[in-house]
Amino acid sequence: MTDVTLFLREFARTRRDTGAIAPSSARLAGALTRYVIPSPGRPRAVLEVGPGTGAVTRHIRAALGPLDSLELVEANTQFAAVLRRTYASDPQVRLMTGLVQRQRLGSYDTIVCGLPFANFDAATVEDIFGCLIGALRPGGTLSFFAYTGMRPLRRAFTAGEDLRRMLETQAVLERTLRRHRFRSETVLCNLPPARVHHLAPAAPAARAGQSPAFAYADQ
Ligand SMILES: C[S@@+](CC[C@H](N)C(=O)[O-])C[C@H]1O[C@@H](n2cnc3c(N)ncnc32)[C@H](O)[C@@H]1O
Repeated sequence: MTDVTLFLREFARTRRDTGAIAPSSARLAGALTRYVIPSPGRPRAVLEVGPGTGAVTRHIRAALGPLDSLELVEANTQFAAVLRRTYASDPQVRLMTGLVQRQRLGSYDTIVCGLPFANFDAATVEDIFGCLIGALRPGGTLSFFAYTGMRPLRRAFTAGEDLRRMLETQAVLERTLRRHRFRSETVLCNLPPARVHHLAPAAPAARAGQSPAFAYADQ
């Protein structure tokens, strides 16, 4: 079975958690891995959350230096089986199967996250961002994406309790972006097009509601 067929099958089976009908394009993978930057002579730790069948993982792996390490956390056992087959004999890659918010994470220079946050409830989104931002080393970055143009569509077709849940999740995402984002970019060449956001831990002054200690630029 190809990655695309497996993706489609898993989307039909667990739409909320899979969150996409196809793996990310090479362009989206390129934007998500923008901050996987080799640092000669210094080992770097990278975490990928929700690697699926490994479309983004391949880009991360290609950017690793010989001292670097990559940890993968994938909740779907079918996808995890594909990743295990691909990386079983790779000493630089370690796979954890299960929900990221239930794992004992290490500390990382770069985190790349493919989770479909818009499908989760607000408490889960808050919990996951807390885990991931808390796992960043000083100077570390967290990159994730959201599909563009989905919000008005979802709003038009959602009502009642589901609409309330959707707006709460949106509020958590917006608060997280306001506090931690230093860059965003749009990737049109993906099905559907996506917006990639790059975050960094907020400086203590920013947490207290004062100006952030580093420059935020929305590009
Ligand atoms: C939108 S797909 C992205 C797949 C891949 N990164 C790509 O870009 O092609 C989301 C992935 O996140 C996984 N996932 C969803 N919730 C998760 C969680 N709480 N912890 C770990 N993985 C999760 C899904 O199983 C799925 O593989």
